[in-house]
Amino acid sequence: MVSFIKNPPEATALMTSARSFGNYDLPSALADLLDNSIKAKARNIEVLCIREDGDPIVRILDDGLGMSIQELHKAMRPASSNPDEERAADDLGRFGWGMKTASFSQCRKLTVLSRHRDKYCGASWDHDDLDDFRMGVLDEAETKQLANQKLLENDGTEVIWTKCDRLSEFGKVQSREFNELVAHAKSELALTFHRYLAGEHGLQKLVIKFNGDILQPVDPFLRDHPATQSKPVEHLELEGKPFTVQAFILPHYSKLSTTEHQRLGGEEGLVRSQGFYVYRQHRLIMHGTWFRLVKHGELSQLVRIAVNIPNSLDAIWKITVDKSEAQLPSGLRARLRNIVKGLKIQSGRVFQSRGGRIKPTGSKTPVWSKYVRNGAVRYYLNPEHPLFLAMLEHEDEDVARSFGVIISIIEDCFPSVSIGEDFVSRPEMVNQSALDREAFVDRLDAAIPSLLISAEGSFEKLWGVLQTSEPWSEHKVIVEEYLRERGWCV
Ligand SMILES: Nc1ncnc2c1ncn2[C@@H]1O[C@H](COP(=O)(O)OP(=O)(O)OP(=O)(O)O)[C@@H](O)[C@H]1O
Ligand SMILES: [Mg+2]
Repeated sequence: MVSFIKNPPEATALMTSARSFGNYDLPSALADLLDNSIKAKARNIEVLCIREDGDPIVRILDDGLGMSIQELHKAMRPASSNPDEERAADDLGRFGWGMKTASFSQCRKLTVLSRHRDKYCGASWDHDDLDDFRMGVLDEAETKQLANQKLLENDGTEVIWTKCDRLSEFGKVQSREFNELVAHAKSELALTFHRYLAGEHGLQKLVIKFNGDILQPVDPFLRDHPATQSKPVEHLELEGKPFTVQAFILPHYSKLSTTEHQRLGGEEGLVRSQGFYVYRQHRLIMHGTWFRLVKHGELSQLVRIAVNIPNSLDAIWKITVDKSEAQLPSGLRARLRNIVKGLKIQSGRVFQSRGGRIKPTGSKTPVWSKYVRNGAVRYYLNPEHPLFLAMLEHEDEDVARSFGVIISIIEDCFPSVSIGEDFVSRPEMVNQSALDREAFVDRLDAAIPSLLISAEGSFEKLWGVLQTSEPWSEHKVIVEEYLRERGWCV
């Protein structure tokens, strides 16, 4: 007959191991605490992250429901609830660990103060004094003394991290690096909680103040940009539980302002940030992954796909303790691959063409054209462009021939590989159109005699040629002014 004895974990060893559960950094650790505040119906959250001469302190205050003393003691317990239990639909928690693991990933001492229905309580775990799970308990007076003034006015909870050894990299972090960490955390949280910050999808609008700055929502799909294409919402089901997927094609790089570039691309750049954006209860848990369905940079346009999952699918998506990873369920791979394939076809239309010259849209005469045959693309200087035509048909045959040779050499040596690489790695850096006005006018001036040949000597026709030929068609105002100044138009 088997007999049983109690064999609990050793306190210090377990809690020290818990410091390495998940793969937290500062933003994901803060996000786990913000999840708890949101679950407690907070409308305002204040995050303070201060370096204090290399011994940082972090405080997260919310105006949520707070906790009673019993609730706080349970909440402080490691593994405070069973991950297999069903959670309310709006609960962002799962494991009963988040507050502890997130905090310990950054600090040695976690203090939680709470006010619930006007009653105060506080508790703390200190890694330097953990014998047999000894938890510090603060009475009302001690709690009030430590708490932020706002907690004395309203119910809520304040989490305090001290002895931040990991956050401070054991005291080594300098103030510039610390400021960078804080700036990174701010921008990540503005993205992670953007739907809450904007109060969309029927969510209660949330205000997050971080070191005094109110975080503005960062929409990764740039939905209010007129050139963004939103695809229809697809309703899917996994094990009887519904969820949705929606793809967005972002505007071409050239249509984005510098701020939009920076906001959308984050620190990894625009191409790296393509892919699936997985939201769990509207909170972003991972982004910029293709789940190995497509290679980064393979889609020629900026494609981002929102996947919205409820917490009832946590186990199937294998959500991790730090809520920063999920695995694509095998039953979904084929479906999502089809969605991506459809987008790939649209975005890579040119390669599917049966062959021949690809006509530019509209009636403009481009400088560059492209020719596609058997899936191979070649760029060439458009011989129908009025300036090239005039030179190719120059009355001096030697000039015409030399010009033809020059054109062919430029085409043969077109740096397509280098341009392709630049577009994949740093599309926002590629800028070929930086012309100043003076240079533009000088070149126009020099081109006029040849263009007049195409215009059969007529200034009226010249205006027509300029309006429909690159690069002048892109700068009509300057061209019109140039012609007016000379009394040639319009
Ligand atoms: N700011 C808060 N306001 C009110 N209650 C809180 C707050 N923070 C934590 N709690 C309570 O403490 C409990 C434990 O939180 P913890 O983050 O450790 O686990 P969880 O949220 O249940 O699950 P997960 O590990 O997935 O985060 C929560 O379920 C909640 O009841
Ligand atoms: Mg939690």
